[in-house]
Amino acid sequence: MEQALSLAELLRRSREWLAGRGVENATREVDELACRALACRRIDLYLLHDRVPSPQEVDCLRTLLKRRAHGEPLQYLLGSQPFRRAEIRVDSRVLIPRPETEELVELVLAREGKRHGLRVLDAGTGSGCVAISLAQELPDCRVLAVDSSRAALDLAQENARQNGVEHLVEFQQLNLLTAWPAEQVDVLVSNPPYVAEFERGILAPELAHEPQDALFGGEDGLLFYRRFAAGLEQLLCPGGRFYLEIGSGQAAALVEHFGGLGIQVETGQDLSGRDRFISGLRPDSPPPTREDHEHAPHTPENIPHF
Ligand SMILES: C[S@@+](CC[C@H](N)C(=O)[O-])C[C@H]1O[C@@H](n2cnc3c(N)ncnc32)[C@H](O)[C@@H]1O
Repeated sequence: MEQALSLAELLRRSREWLAGRGVENATREVDELACRALACRRIDLYLLHDRVPSPQEVDCLRTLLKRRAHGEPLQYLLGSQPFRRAEIRVDSRVLIPRPETEELVELVLAREGKRHGLRVLDAGTGSGCVAISLAQELPDCRVLAVDSSRAALDLAQENARQNGVEHLVEFQQLNLLTAWPAEQVDVLVSNPPYVAEFERGILAPELAHEPQDALFGGEDGLLFYRRFAAGLEQLLCPGGRFYLEIGSGQAAALVEHFGGLGIQVETGQDLSGRDRFISGLRPDSPPPTREDHEHAPHTPENIPHF
């Protein structure tokens, strides 16, 4: 019969076991998984170090550790990920929200944050993290969140409900490579799939657990950007703006591509100084005035119904 272990000993052995399987932050990850298995807070792991976890709790932790050692991302095992003010449920139906995407939202808010009643399109919403954050932070906005994956949309909808913004976000299943939403918007935001096909073999093993349609953007990774560039006049109202997350090393090709279509783009940098965003205006838009930035609110009858 196995000897019952104290929590402190269980944690020590678990950390050693996970570190031995090549997981870099084994101490922190074991703590987070133990909190999940024991349904407790991080601080309780230390306050209750003498407690003997039940066999069910130990089994649960063991299963989580095994899954982590097989490369399943920590966030899927924990079941959620904080994203700005939102708590976003995640599982294998959706891409795990990344810190850069919080910076994409930051960029939109820096320029659009004071405008009331904006209509926003989140193209490729996945977990809904971008749509939900913008709905929480842009005054009186309405967000249309589209994705080709029904499974992702189901989870995104649940996330909108959990975060109290379901009345501000409409979800729609749409293949953005073959169709555009019926109505134009003031702001297009997207973190589209941008990994190049040729990189498929050299990606971190964890990425194999995330939905592959969320990752790959054609041979060179630029498929969705070319599609957006060609569709801006259909997607955006006159004066409308777009904000796109891009992969490291893609900025030069995208500035050239958009520029070739007469679309001026600004590049934006992430916290490490890498070009990770492009933004710009619908091509035939007049140059923005000061008033555009401190835009008068839409009247109620102008508030969009998608
Ligand atoms: C990189 S993920 C971004 C998810 C989320 N917005 C985020 O930032 O975490 C791209 C999303 O685009 C969706 N997608 C892929 N191909 C699509 C298509 N043809 N039409 C619409 N959405 C698509 C994927 O299902 C995925 O949810």
